[in-house]
Amino acid sequence: FYSEKMSKPKVYVTRAITTEAMNILEEFCEVSSWPEPDPVSRDVLLENVSGKDALFCLLTDRIDKEVLDKAGPNLKIIATMSVGYDHLDVNEIKKRNIKIGYTPDVLTDATAELTVALLLATSRRLLEANEEARNGGWKAWSPFWLCGPGLNGATVGIVGFGRIGQEVAKRLKPFNIKRLIYHNRSEKAKEAKEIGATRVNLEELLAESDFVIATCALTPETKEMFNDCAFKKMKPTAVFINTSRGGVVHQESLVRALTHKTIWGAGLDVMTPEPLPVDDPLFKLKNCVILPHIGSATIEARSTMAMLTAKNILAGLKGENMPAELKI
Ligand code: DGY
Repeated sequence: FYSEKMSKPKVYVTRAITTEAMNILEEFCEVSSWPEPDPVSRDVLLENVSGKDALFCLLTDRIDKEVLDKAGPNLKIIATMSVGYDHLDVNEIKKRNIKIGYTPDVLTDATAELTVALLLATSRRLLEANEEARNGGWKAWSPFWLCGPGLNGATVGIVGFGRIGQEVAKRLKPFNIKRLIYHNRSEKAKEAKEIGATRVNLEELLAESDFVIATCALTPETKEMFNDCAFKKMKPTAVFINTSRGGVVHQESLVRALTHKTIWGAGLDVMTPEPLPVDDPLFKLKNCVILPHIGSATIEARSTMAMLTAKNILAGLKGENMPAELKI
């Protein structure tokens, strides 16, 4: 594809990544990068993408027509260091025959673990409890203080029964839950049988679940699916957990549902916008636990994601199959 005699393909990397991932890129490519831990600004991205053969990007970089036009006709590979790709204008990318790499599988366990952690932190009020212990609110052991709903005997509903949803389900089973139900576009019958989960429609899932967990991708179909109407269908004792994308929630509806106790509480790893402004109404609610999008943040997952993204770029540039190409 790129012979020895030709000049090295040019790659732009939009963030400081691991030395290992940089090294394998540099062996074969001419690499330039935004070397900071904070996101690259739009202007710097637009300037630097120009004339590149490949782009290593993150979910904080919106890759749309403007970026693609600026990149020009050399751009053949876009690899995102994420499993989510709602920040990519896939139609525009496909029109230009650009291949897309992403990072499924390698972050599944980390994200499933965090989902369980967030669920327990929310239902058992861990952050509030820690705060009380520190600020003198803990006067004595108290029978009904800081209580929350338990998982034992509960019905758990998972919206989006893909890789992450299934791993969340497996991890929750040993908590002795009564029923595991899921809502998913495709059937996933084999996986569901193995795990012991039942497919139901969304109405039923919302009405029956003590814990509603969103692990679905953000698509036009799932956008703001958790709205006033959905929250009203949920039990007043229900806990809502979101580790997918903030965009699946109509956030004003969620604020209303938490304020008026339409639902019991919520744990969010993702929201709109990110970062969530510190004066956002969600931060004022005690029944809402907020994390800064750390689902995949294990050391292992993040370094493997960086490596996989680099490998996707190298394979794509060499005209080989990418280890993880997004085929849509
Ligand atoms: C992803 O990969 O899409 C997650 O949101 C971050 O790891």
